[in-house]
Amino acid sequence: MELFKNDIEQILYDEHTIAKRVAELGAVISRDYEGKEVVVVSILRGSCIFTADLVRHLEFPVSLDFMALSSYGNGTTSTGQVQITKDLSCNIEGKHVLVIEDIMDSGNTLAYLMNVLLQRKPASIRLCTLLDNPARRQQKVEISYCGFQIPNAFVVGYGLDYAQYYRNLPYIGVLKESVYSGNL
Ligand code: IMP
Ligand code: MG
Repeated sequence: MELFKNDIEQILYDEHTIAKRVAELGAVISRDYEGKEVVVVSILRGSCIFTADLVRHLEFPVSLDFMALSSYGNGTTSTGQVQITKDLSCNIEGKHVLVIEDIMDSGNTLAYLMNVLLQRKPASIRLCTLLDNPARRQQKVEISYCGFQIPNAFVVGYGLDYAQYYRNLPYIGVLKESVYSGNL
């Protein structure tokens, strides 16, 4: 894809690498949840593409629900303040819950979210994140399933955005600093 090519410093994971890893994750998760029913909670908007691909590799009954959280504004670093802008439509009490996120960075968003969901008394709760950027971590959150650990960089594509753009790139790439410098 040529779109936005000049804004990308480096492609970290191409389409095929992502597809292979998502299938691997799906196989592991399917083994772990064999015989169970699961509420998959997809965190909008970043994880929508990952979720759509991953759920098609899950071999157990899935009920899919969505939540939206905001913490970032248009910058590239976390504000540390999290808000639920769209809550779940279903009740998760007594259910097995698998949270799907695009990236764990500071951990602020997921620390807050996992805590909120735990208070609703699910039977179990686990987190699956496509990307993990451990260098920027501020709060410790347990990750059960992770696609890739990335080097410390701001990445876009495959659902991840900068100022709402780049989500439709089929690969995950490092955004050139010149695109966002002066805009933080
Ligand atoms: P955290 O609260 O710092 O862990 O950030 C969580 C959210 O920030 C993620 O769900 C993403 O939406 C966004 N985010 C963090 N790092 C990146 C990145 O490198 N590219 C795009 N979005 C990011
Ligand atoms: Mg997100």
